[in-house]
Amino acid sequence: MVNRSVWWEQGQVRMIDQRQLPLHYEIANFDSIEGVVRSISDMYVRGAPAIGATAAYGMALAARLSLAAQPKAMVADLKQAKQRLDAARPTAVNLAWASARLLALATELAEQQVTTDEIRAEMLAEAERLAEQDIEINQSIGRYGAAIVPQGAHILHHCNTGSLATVDYGTALGVVRAAHAAGKGIHVWVDETRPRLQGARLTAWELMREDIPMHLIADNAAGLLMRTGKVNVVLFGADRVAANGDVANKIGTYNLAVLAQENGIPCYAAVPTPTIDLDLPDGDQIPIEERRWDEVATVFGKQIAPDNVPVYNPAFDITPHRYLTGIITDEGICYPPFTESLRRAKLSAETRLWEEHQH
Ligand code: MRU
Repeated sequence: MVNRSVWWEQGQVRMIDQRQLPLHYEIANFDSIEGVVRSISDMYVRGAPAIGATAAYGMALAARLSLAAQPKAMVADLKQAKQRLDAARPTAVNLAWASARLLALATELAEQQVTTDEIRAEMLAEAERLAEQDIEINQSIGRYGAAIVPQGAHILHHCNTGSLATVDYGTALGVVRAAHAAGKGIHVWVDETRPRLQGARLTAWELMREDIPMHLIADNAAGLLMRTGKVNVVLFGADRVAANGDVANKIGTYNLAVLAQENGIPCYAAVPTPTIDLDLPDGDQIPIEERRWDEVATVFGKQIAPDNVPVYNPAFDITPHRYLTGIITDEGICYPPFTESLRRAKLSAETRLWEEHQH
C-alpha cells in the first residue's frame, strides 16, 4: 500500500482511486491532461489539498507533453492546461492556486532564456515541492490544533479531511491524529456525509486503520448527539475560506456549525493557508459546485428515488464566520476578527515560501 493519495511515477500522475474505497484499493494512472482533469472531476482524487497537488502534477505533465521548441510557446501550452485543470472543480481554491504557482514558475524561467527541458525538470521539481509542503503544512495544523482538543474529547467530524483528502496526514483529521498521538484519549463521531459518503467510506477507513476510536453516524444524528452532551468539539476542513472567515466546505457543514453554536460547543475549521482566498471578501462570492443528479437519486448504482426525479445537488455550503470559534491553520489558530488574523496567517505563510524560494 502506498502512503500518499497522489504522486508522480514514470512520467504519469498516479493516485489512489478513492471512488473504490473501502471495498477495493486500486491505483489509477493518468498520462494525459484530459485524464488528469477527469481524475479530479470524477473524484478519483478529492479533497481540496489533494486536488491542488494533482493540478501541480498535471502542470508538470503538461510541460512534459508540450511539443513546444521555445520556452514562450511552452508557457502558452501551460496556460491552456491550467484553464482545463482549473475548470475541473470550481469550489476548492487550492486547484487554481497550485496551477498558478506552477505557471508562474514556468513564466519566470521562460524570461530567463532557459531551455524547454530545463522548464520541464523545474516544473516537476516544483510539483514535488508543493506536495512535500502540503504534508508539512498538515503536520503543523495538527500540532496547533491538538491544543484545542480537550482530554477525552468526543469530536464530531464531517466529510473526509485525512491522508486521502491531502497528500498525506490530513487537516481536521490531522488534528484528530495529533490529539490521538498525544494520548488525549479521543473518540470521533464520523458523519457519513451524504451523498457521496466520504465519511462512511473514507474517514472510517482511515481512522480504523490507525485504531482511533470512532463511531459512524448518519448525518441526521448530529443534532441529537450535540443536545445530549455527547460532543465536545466540532471539526471540519474547508475548500475555500473568504477574507472575512466565511468557510466553504462539504454540504452539511453549515448545519453542524449552527447546531454547535445552539448547543454551546466549540466549532473549528482546520485549513491550510493555500485554502485562504483573500481575493474574495466574503462567502457569497465563493462558487458552489453543483454535481449530477445520480449522486443523490442512486446509491452505488442502485436507484432509490422515482424515475426522472428532479434533483438539486450542491456539493458545498457556506458557513458564515460568526459560527466559528476559530480557524486552525499551519501558521497558528486564527480567532475573530478573522479579517485580520487570516491576513496575518496568509502573509506569514507567503513570506516563508518566498524566503525558501530565494535559497
Ligand atoms: O467533494 P470533496 O470530497 O472533494 O469535498 C472535500 C471536502 O469538503 C473537505 O472537507 C475539504 O476539501 C477539506 S479536505 C482537507
